[in-house]
Amino acid sequence: MRVLLSGGAGYIGAHTALALIEAGHHVIVVDDLSNSSAEAIVRVQQLSGVAVPLLVADVRDEPALRAFVQAHSPVDAVIHFAGAKAVGESVADPIRYYDVNLGSAIAVLKVMAAERISAIVFSSSATVYGQSESLPLSESSPTGIDLANPYGKTKRIIEAILEDAASADPGLAAIALRYFNPVGAHPSGLIGEDPSGVPNNLMPYVARVAVGALERVGIFGDDYDTPDGTGQRDYIHVLDLAAGHVAALEHARAGYDVFNLGTGVPVSVLELIAAFERAAGRSIPTEVLGRRPGDVAVSYCDPSKAGRVLDWIASRTIDDACRDTWRWQSRNPAGYGSAADRRAAASGSQLGAGAA
Ligand code: NAD
Ligand code: WQD
Repeated sequence: MRVLLSGGAGYIGAHTALALIEAGHHVIVVDDLSNSSAEAIVRVQQLSGVAVPLLVADVRDEPALRAFVQAHSPVDAVIHFAGAKAVGESVADPIRYYDVNLGSAIAVLKVMAAERISAIVFSSSATVYGQSESLPLSESSPTGIDLANPYGKTKRIIEAILEDAASADPGLAAIALRYFNPVGAHPSGLIGEDPSGVPNNLMPYVARVAVGALERVGIFGDDYDTPDGTGQRDYIHVLDLAAGHVAALEHARAGYDVFNLGTGVPVSVLELIAAFERAAGRSIPTEVLGRRPGDVAVSYCDPSKAGRVLDWIASRTIDDACRDTWRWQSRNPAGYGSAADRRAAASGSQLGAGAA
């Protein structure tokens, strides 16, 4: 099938683009490069040997998106990754988060209806479970919009929009994938996570310390009620996550459905750092700090529904993820390039065929 990836130049989008191509699908990408680089698409083309058309535009620009879809007709499905994702930023600037995230989802759904595209897979998040006490988290665990931050609320609201859209249109297949903590990189070392500025998330922060770009990892609390006192998360390798999107698309049926994508294995902050030290063959300086406001002690999922319905299971370990992150980080200490390169890339409007 031909699949439109909104936000496909981003971390998860680029890995998913490659997985889709490897599974025999065709991919086109729309991305405004607000948090990514066109270089990611160049590298997907390099790895796959296949041209990936890229429209550099905001997905809320409906006429531009429609024209792009029409130029690549027929498009069978959309994977909607595009959105802003920094939790702290969403608290500081909630209107921008509602504008970008809700506006993007609505624009994509409108273009899908106009162009008769009947399947959408959406990047939701474990964040929709908020402070839920029941572990492991299953798809029926409580969610709500009573969440700590606007970012999480946008994810929950978009899930509800998709559910309503699917009940109004019996031909529409809408799937929300609730990612747990995506980590890792492609084993080639060519594509990986390239956060701008100082990373918020643990794995990219640890990687920057390992490469010498940051001094030490601050551990946000060692007094949680967990085996070693540090927070536990369900870290899923981005290649497993990418495979989950392929499985979701290939199993898509009319109606709305939701799946957790995680490993089901809790890993602590100290365990992740120790795994990274093994992968990089060097010690990583740490410092224990206070708890980060809004953090839960433990979050991990029951991934069995995705196993049962999508025939998908995460097979990679935290050691695999640290090895691949280290390869990516050590080979690309400045990520995909300087800010100037990004601006130059963003000044074009379309990256067409070629570069393979
Ligand atoms: P990312 O920032 O690397 O990718 C998002 C992409 O969307 C970027 O390339 C960005 O330039 C693009 N984009 C943003 N707004 C846009 C707009 N209006 N129009 C066009 N493009 C736009 O992030 P990611 O980690 O790859 O995450 C992908 C999706 O998964 C996001 O929706 C995110 O909220 C969700 N998610 C991420 C995580 C995580 O920890 N990485 C966890 C759960 C859910
Ligand atoms: C993991 C663990 C921290 C950084 C966030 C978002 C969530 C989702 C994924 C999008 C926690 C600890 C972290 C550091 C630390 N994103 N930590 N030192 O908070 O589980 O999830 O990203 O949907 O919405 O909230 O991930 O990587 O920030 O933290 O000790 O410098 O590492 O306290 O226990 P989190 P994280």
